[in-house]
Amino acid sequence: MTVVYFDSPMSDDERRRKLFGGDLFVYSPTPHSMALVAFAREMAESAFAPHFPPDAQHHLAGPDYVRVLADLKPTFINHPRSKELVRGMLADLGADLEQTYFDVPRLRSMTSEYLNAGLTLQFESHRDTWFSAPMSQLNFWMPVYDVEEANVMAFHPPYFDAGVRNSSRDYNYAQWVAHGRTAAAQQVDMETRKQPEAEEQINREPDIRVITPPGGVLLFSGAQLHTTVPNTSGRTRFSIDFRAVNRRDVEVRAGARNVDSECTGTTLGDFLRATDLEPLPADLIRSYDTVPA
Ligand SMILES: [Fe+2]
Repeated sequence: MTVVYFDSPMSDDERRRKLFGGDLFVYSPTPHSMALVAFAREMAESAFAPHFPPDAQHHLAGPDYVRVLADLKPTFINHPRSKELVRGMLADLGADLEQTYFDVPRLRSMTSEYLNAGLTLQFESHRDTWFSAPMSQLNFWMPVYDVEEANVMAFHPPYFDAGVRNSSRDYNYAQWVAHGRTAAAQQVDMETRKQPEAEEQINREPDIRVITPPGGVLLFSGAQLHTTVPNTSGRTRFSIDFRAVNRRDVEVRAGARNVDSECTGTTLGDFLRATDLEPLPADLIRSYDTVPA
């Protein structure tokens, strides 16, 4: 059974327990999620001007489009206001800010049948925990503009408890940072970077797709198998997502059950405390930072 909780008043502790069991939470737009969406729109609209960002793909040549994104995304990600608004959102949603650590919010784009590589990469079915995320990681996702069933993300809940053969054994986060990420901006047409992927056929039916208005928040475990569905909507989907962990969960290794992740290393070094943007203690990060065999 997978439960989708809508605007649940549940406490953060209880909610994390449910998320670790595979349930999903959906929230109406909050004051800070709306502010974050407004901030992203402002930035995207000025970057793509005079085009409306969801339609800009129809007006720009591939390299020009990629160039705009290559500038827009890091600007949004690294902007101090983005982090402030994430902190506000976490507070809106009842998280304990002293214990909650988040990674910078990403602005993502998914073009419709156009440029499926590099910065516009269309992800195959995966769990974030195949990418060195801790089992206690929670993902927050929200659309920046209206979305529809053909340009959102699909969840495959039967796999929450069932392992999938996958290549995460070859993935180490520190190695990825050193070699992989910098190559992303150079890849327009072909995806050659090595990413963990399923090594068996995934049964994608049935799936769950959640459609919220812009700024509506979808909250799920990083162990949830999910797919970005091929975008056939004719419009580019823009979304914002970020990851968060609760420090107590990290310390006691609470989280979803690991059914199939064999990656090494950890992304925990990227997480910042919601109150003051301090990282987790170095020894705690080190205790997760395993090395390839
Ligand atoms: Fe993901």
